[in-house]
Amino acid sequence: MRKGLIQATDGFERIVHWSLALSCLALCITGLGMMFHSLNFIGELMGGLKSLKYVHNFTGIFFGVALYFTIRMWWKEAGVFSMPEDLEWIKCAGGYLWHVDNPPEVGKYNPGQKMFFLAVAGFGAIMVLTGLVMWFPLNFPPTFVRLMYMLHALGFVVIFAFFFVHLYLGTVGSPGSLDAMLTGWVTREWLQKQHPKWLKEMEHEGTLVVYGEEKQAQGHGH
Ligand code: HEM
Repeated sequence: MRKGLIQATDGFERIVHWSLALSCLALCITGLGMMFHSLNFIGELMGGLKSLKYVHNFTGIFFGVALYFTIRMWWKEAGVFSMPEDLEWIKCAGGYLWHVDNPPEVGKYNPGQKMFFLAVAGFGAIMVLTGLVMWFPLNFPPTFVRLMYMLHALGFVVIFAFFFVHLYLGTVGSPGSLDAMLTGWVTREWLQKQHPKWLKEMEHEGTLVVYGEEKQAQGHGH
């Protein structure tokens, strides 16, 4: 069934992605449960608001570790813009919002994905740091703690908003994408449409992994 498919992610990338994704969702749900009276019932499900806070805080540590690995493994591919093609892509929104005949070919991740990565990396780090201060508020000046509460809420709004865009584009909005994060094996057509420059690079460098075939001979002598 998988014969001829191409490997887009390895097991480590997928474990890190889902650790980050699931802990992020759990944090959003438990955080909302603490923030709004109308959602306090989420705490009741976990044995009360005190346990809700523990679940939130310890999930936060897990999220922090997953975030560390996410940044470490993806910052080169998703954290750095490559000019001029990324700028050209931004000018036409990659052809996602209106019809564009030939959207510029970008590398492994497109600028939209890079912006999402950077938002998650930056605001994710803010969430972890501000959260730690909120966990031990008596160790810091009250005004500083209040500022941390505000930043924590701001970070939530940004990540939560981006999440829905990401969820849509990772599933129904871009058919075939979910496979990249579920099994890691994708079709050549999907790569050609979604990550054409990356496909060319892998072919050129001989790093393309095709299911059922030997890895291509390494390199072209450079
Ligand atoms: C639960 C629903 C989610 C689904 C279905 C999903 C799906 C996906 C898919 C299919 C990709 C690969 C896209 C490609 O290679 O073109 C991806 C990449 C990625 N995901 Fe998720 N994801 C989810 C949640 C999350 C969450 C909550 C976060 C962060 C907190 C996250 C962070 C990332 C990052 C940083 C990437 C790398 C590329 C990019 O920036 O888009 N994902 N996800």
